[in-house]
Amino acid sequence: MAYYYPEPSHTFSEYLLIPGYSDAECIPSNVSLRTPLVKYRRGEEPPLSMNIPLVSAVMQSVSDDRMAIALAREGGVSFLYGSQPIGQQAEMVRRVKRYKAGFVPSDSNIRPDQTLRDILNLKERLGHSTIAVTDDGTGTGKLLGLVTSRDYRVSRMSGEERVSEFMTPMEKLITAPEGTSLKDANDIIWDHKLNALPIVTGEGRLSSFVFRKDYDQHKENPNELLDSQKRYVVGAGVGTRDYEERIPALVEAGADVLCIDSSEGFTQWQSRTLAWVRGRYGDEVKIGAGNVVDRDGFRFLAEAGADFVKVGIGGGSICITRETKGIGRGQATAVIEVARARDEYFEETGIYVPVCSDGGIVLDYHITLALAMGCDFCMLGRYFSRFDESPTDKVLVGGSYMKEYWGEGSARARNWQRYDLGGDRKLSFVEGVDCYVPYAGPLHDNVTTTLSKVRSTMCNCGALSIPELQRKAKLTLVSATSIVEGGAHDVIVKDQNTNR
Ligand code: IMP
Repeated sequence: MAYYYPEPSHTFSEYLLIPGYSDAECIPSNVSLRTPLVKYRRGEEPPLSMNIPLVSAVMQSVSDDRMAIALAREGGVSFLYGSQPIGQQAEMVRRVKRYKAGFVPSDSNIRPDQTLRDILNLKERLGHSTIAVTDDGTGTGKLLGLVTSRDYRVSRMSGEERVSEFMTPMEKLITAPEGTSLKDANDIIWDHKLNALPIVTGEGRLSSFVFRKDYDQHKENPNELLDSQKRYVVGAGVGTRDYEERIPALVEAGADVLCIDSSEGFTQWQSRTLAWVRGRYGDEVKIGAGNVVDRDGFRFLAEAGADFVKVGIGGGSICITRETKGIGRGQATAVIEVARARDEYFEETGIYVPVCSDGGIVLDYHITLALAMGCDFCMLGRYFSRFDESPTDKVLVGGSYMKEYWGEGSARARNWQRYDLGGDRKLSFVEGVDCYVPYAGPLHDNVTTTLSKVRSTMCNCGALSIPELQRKAKLTLVSATSIVEGGAHDVIVKDQNTNR
């Protein structure tokens, strides 16, 4: 007979934290959010930790190199999406590793034979007013000129003019060679009153820009997550099919940590992938696995050699797995059970395998709840997709700015590997939707606000670190009626945009 769980499974919004005693030292500025990313032995330091408990989802609409740089600056890690050709994903890893603060790869580029209309479209789509003119229209093509809003007057031009007719050509541009220090680049910007300084390779190809407006931003961020060579830490998603080619390419490119990305991780496909990695690289290559939602799934992946285990089926904002397939579990219940299994495994073996809660974070406090319930860090998709740094277009819908966001199981992503159970290598039905999310501005501002709420709640619970929160947290389930009581109620709210 089928097994029936005695209790229903619950999600984050059904829980609250009960405050505990906090002493006068327990203030947000004393809170550490440092957390392990990969497994370690009792008494040893984790080989890789993060300064904040946030990673960005392995998704086309979330994690590219730009997101990875922005998040590593804050102390977290992005997992670059795997549903792209191997060479392209490895190149993204390389771009993160090559990145030097203040030197920005150019993402608004055009060919000289394109028109003013193309410039205006590009500006509308990406929002940048400095556009590089390169021979092949890419950010690394041979630099031929620049277009800024000073180069054209929309009211006096038809839109059909060729870029080559009105751009500022190379001979009138001030550029600097690769290898120029940030300090020297900034001096050139100030001396020549420039807004942007193109950095050019020996062969005349565009390498990056240094922008005047970024000047203040590039003082060091105390939380930024760097490897031993002072490069940003970056992760990458892999599948359970082409790993024998993909993993060596990503490792070679410098990826610090990998993650098997699959909608359901309690499979032989995952144990085979982990066995292959251990066989080839031993413990040198760090790789997480998932997703699972119970103790058995956790133990299976931990024993198969996973460096961390990802939890969550069906809770993602774009996910329709529960509707289409009827599998999944309330995210809070899944995290609680898996975190207990992690502690039990630690007791038995002395090996601590971090747990990641993946998907379903809607309000900032859900992060604090997930941590209190025992996860070591959270993976978020929708949250990061709303920021300037996500790879998708910002569009105007019904008078408000939106960003596009789509699931890896949607027809748009065509990520058959994530959902494949050994079939015919195409998606026969979708498990995700294609949608809009409200645009929310720069990552830095949002992450700062979110984490100040997390720190503040931790202080309410008397905790100055994530392990302390996990030891001290007291959680209560709430009734449906008290959820209504928890929001503004019985009043007419004036400002609907209150930052929650
Ligand atoms: P979110 O933070 O609630 O938006 O959830 C993001 C998570 O949803 C990802 O990290 C994946 O685990 C999961 N996910 C991504 N794409 C899909 C999909 O198309 N269907 C189901 N789940 C998805």
